[in-house]
Amino acid sequence: HDDVIMLGIETSCDDTAAAVVRGNGDILSQVVSSQTDLLSRYGGVAPKMAEEAHSLVIDQFNLLILLNCITVGVQKARRLAGVFNLPIVGVHHMEAHALVARLTERNLQFPFLALLISGGHNLLILAHKLGHYLQLGTTIDDAIGEAYDKTARWLGLDMRKGGGPALEELALEGDANSINFSIPMRQHKDCNFSYAGLKTQVRLAIESRMISMENNPISLANLDDRRSRADIAASFQRVAVLHLEERCQRAIEWALKIEPSIKYLVVSGGVASNKYVRARLSHVVENNGLELVCPPPSLCTDNGVMVAWTGIEHFLLGRFDPPPPADEPEDAM
Ligand code: KG4
Ligand code: ZN
Repeated sequence: HDDVIMLGIETSCDDTAAAVVRGNGDILSQVVSSQTDLLSRYGGVAPKMAEEAHSLVIDQFNLLILLNCITVGVQKARRLAGVFNLPIVGVHHMEAHALVARLTERNLQFPFLALLISGGHNLLILAHKLGHYLQLGTTIDDAIGEAYDKTARWLGLDMRKGGGPALEELALEGDANSINFSIPMRQHKDCNFSYAGLKTQVRLAIESRMISMENNPISLANLDDRRSRADIAASFQRVAVLHLEERCQRAIEWALKIEPSIKYLVVSGGVASNKYVRARLSHVVENNGLELVCPPPSLCTDNGVMVAWTGIEHFLLGRFDPPPPADEPEDAM
């Protein structure tokens, strides 16, 4: 496998990333260029702006195209593959979040269970084998990362670090039991998720404590009471993660009935870089006699390595497309 070398390109949300990975798992190079700085000024991911920033950054990786985020990456990949006459592999973003765990934990064999938690997705999947995934649960509204980001914004936190990391930090100072938010979906005995209701509860809690409404209609930014904000952050995080714990417990029970040989729960996606999330889920996993596999934080958040690695996994099983024509017109891509 050492002779396979894969370039991974990732442009699906607010980051632009690329990496070169060898078939044996060696990471030969990697770059992530975050737009968080740029986007924090606008309070979130603005698709048009993200698109433009991708193009600018991608220019530095050597090209010039301006379309929507994913197409920028896809076009770059096809152009390069065409010019250098190389085979190309299309990679699903969420599959890449899951499979990168097999790069960091070489004992991780199929089948395994995976919880994928990011800004746009909340998925519980049973990975039978490469390309065969059974979805046990998904969100019926928002993903947990979106709830972290909104809560952080409403609390007036510094979005330059990213809403999730800012909230995680503030929560360390708060009392997680100070507000009793209710745990979502308890009456639904399944593995699905919901974060819209928790978001609303948080917004109401903030509004009821608000003393100033000058700049942001819902923000405690002007309330000089860090403690009160920390309490909200910690209480939100406790319940947001309890919801994950409950769903994972049920998913483990379900999965073991389908595939009794399962030994691992993979937790990946941006929110999996959160230390509190990792600690709480590791308890759940251990109580069930399984092992937790969580990639290092830099491989949990969007990155090029996960894309390259997933490309390698597919390539080695013969799943790839032939090189595109070197002169392929853009509208054919
Ligand atoms: O996987 P990812 O990098 O991009 C998507 O595919 O969405 O996940 C981004 C999400 C954002 O919502 C971000 O706030 C969240 O992951 N996130 C965190 C942390 N780091 C990133 N959420 C909670 N705690 C963190 N430390
Ligand atoms: Zn992602």
